[in-house]
Amino acid sequence: MQVIHQFDTVIVGSGGAGLYAALEASQKSRTAVLSKLHPVRSHTGAAQGGISAALGNVEEDKAEWHAFDTVKGGDYLVDQQAAQTLAEEAIQAVYDLENRGLPFNRTKDGRIDQRRFGGHTRNFGEGPVHRACYAADRTGHMILQTLYQQCIKNKVSFFDEYQVLDVILEDNTCKGVVVVELATGELHIFAAKAVLFATGGFGRMFKITSNAYANTGDGPAVCARRGIPLEDMEFYQFHPTGIMGLGILISEAVRGEGGILRNRKGERFMERYSPKLLDLAPRDIVARSIQTEIRAGMGIRGDSKIDDYVHLDATHLGKETLKKKLPDITDFCKTYLGIDPADAPIPVLPTAHYAMGGIPTDMHGRVLKDADNTIVSGLYAAGECACVSVHGANRLGTNSLLDLVVFGRRAGQHIAEYIKSAKAAVVDDSAANDAREWISRITDGAAGPHGGHISEEMQTTMMEKVGIYRNAQQMQAAVDEIQALRKRYHAVRVQDTSKSFNTDLLEVIELGNLLDLSLVTAAAALQRQESRGAHSREDFTERDDEKWLRHSLAYLEGDTVRLDYKPVDTSIWEPKPRIY
Ligand code: FUM
Repeated sequence: MQVIHQFDTVIVGSGGAGLYAALEASQKSRTAVLSKLHPVRSHTGAAQGGISAALGNVEEDKAEWHAFDTVKGGDYLVDQQAAQTLAEEAIQAVYDLENRGLPFNRTKDGRIDQRRFGGHTRNFGEGPVHRACYAADRTGHMILQTLYQQCIKNKVSFFDEYQVLDVILEDNTCKGVVVVELATGELHIFAAKAVLFATGGFGRMFKITSNAYANTGDGPAVCARRGIPLEDMEFYQFHPTGIMGLGILISEAVRGEGGILRNRKGERFMERYSPKLLDLAPRDIVARSIQTEIRAGMGIRGDSKIDDYVHLDATHLGKETLKKKLPDITDFCKTYLGIDPADAPIPVLPTAHYAMGGIPTDMHGRVLKDADNTIVSGLYAAGECACVSVHGANRLGTNSLLDLVVFGRRAGQHIAEYIKSAKAAVVDDSAANDAREWISRITDGAAGPHGGHISEEMQTTMMEKVGIYRNAQQMQAAVDEIQALRKRYHAVRVQDTSKSFNTDLLEVIELGNLLDLSLVTAAAALQRQESRGAHSREDFTERDDEKWLRHSLAYLEGDTVRLDYKPVDTSIWEPKPRIY
């Protein structure tokens, strides 16, 4: 017999989106948050540079400009009403965080300070604007601490170190989730009127990433295996500045404060790629520019065949600014590179950072299961694992913390209303059958290959063949290779069969999720025959609005991926060429 817990609302994931949703839902419902980590170790805590909102505290700014930048930054694949909601609700969201105790940096006259970030402009593109509200370079960490404290106050029930395995769907209605308790290895069923996935990203499918080890796409993979499509998965963002070789994030805030990218000749090469916004162009453009410099032999080593890199020069910012505004970045450089950024430039390279795609939702976080936007009752998603489509083909920096706060809150508010009339979920032991079978297979004692090799091959394939620049031949090879790895995965067995805190088992579960999402990502990318935002093809170099101004919906069907498409909301701004 399984342990069966009964709640009104179950939130899977305890980053910013999950905690904000829990905060709202718990005001009117018995709410549980399940997390494979301790909540304050969630990856939101690694978001550094800021959260955008047109407060206008440092210079004039407007929500309309913010919405427009978001749409243009996303290469017009953004749903425009959603972007408008994001930008308009940003202002109150930031003040709410302030009122809940978030220690933002301050201007001299005591208001929330704001800094510049890539792609955020004044007056529809005139030049960079100060829009990112920040707490030094620990903004996500502060959001997480603030929301966690508020959830504790609201008596949210936390189940830490529980890994999700399955979602229970019957008659187009969500009834709960199946999870494994890491401390004991026992399976649990959480029955609920409403379930929200807020499990974050899946950067661990790539070899070099800014993402934490826990970012394995558990929510999207679980949903995909139950027939929910994943939207716009071909769009994966490479952040321009990861620590060379390691991928650890060096915040865009360094460039926001005046840092400059330089090649081996010391040239500010962004002058050639984005004459107006320079180093503060959107991330897809900056990442491609770095790659192009390196390919042309203009990296610091001057040889694209060996690991090359460029410099991020912050030496002119001075020790005082670095200490006050970028203390963690300064520490990372000292710890991982043995340099002080006040004295020496930082060696950087693009790092896999953020999934624009994910579980399709409407603006209340309700999950949509097809191109007609049919709602799955009681199933919600928010944050990076979701795709409400405010990022389109390329997300602007600082819009991710904003997305999870605005849409986490909206989802929580909707859930609080929904559960009033929803029937209590009735589930029995059999709901855990598939999950039980999966775990039994992995742990059945028969000899099998170790998952670690498969994981390494998957990460190399995705990095080399579905990276910044793509072409049909490489993406087809990636699809074939991931399909072969998925076959090998079926034979994988854990080496450690103990029950308590079996991290070997956890890693094999996570690998299964990453393999499923890698296949979806590579297959969706192969199908899209154009270049748009972060999806940059060497064989289709132009954006093609006539054929491809549409969202992809990828259905994982056994060993293959079926693609469908749905329209983009372009109701406010007509798509134009993207010039910066
Ligand atoms: O560069 C950064 O601080 C990252 C921010 C973001 O991804 O929004």
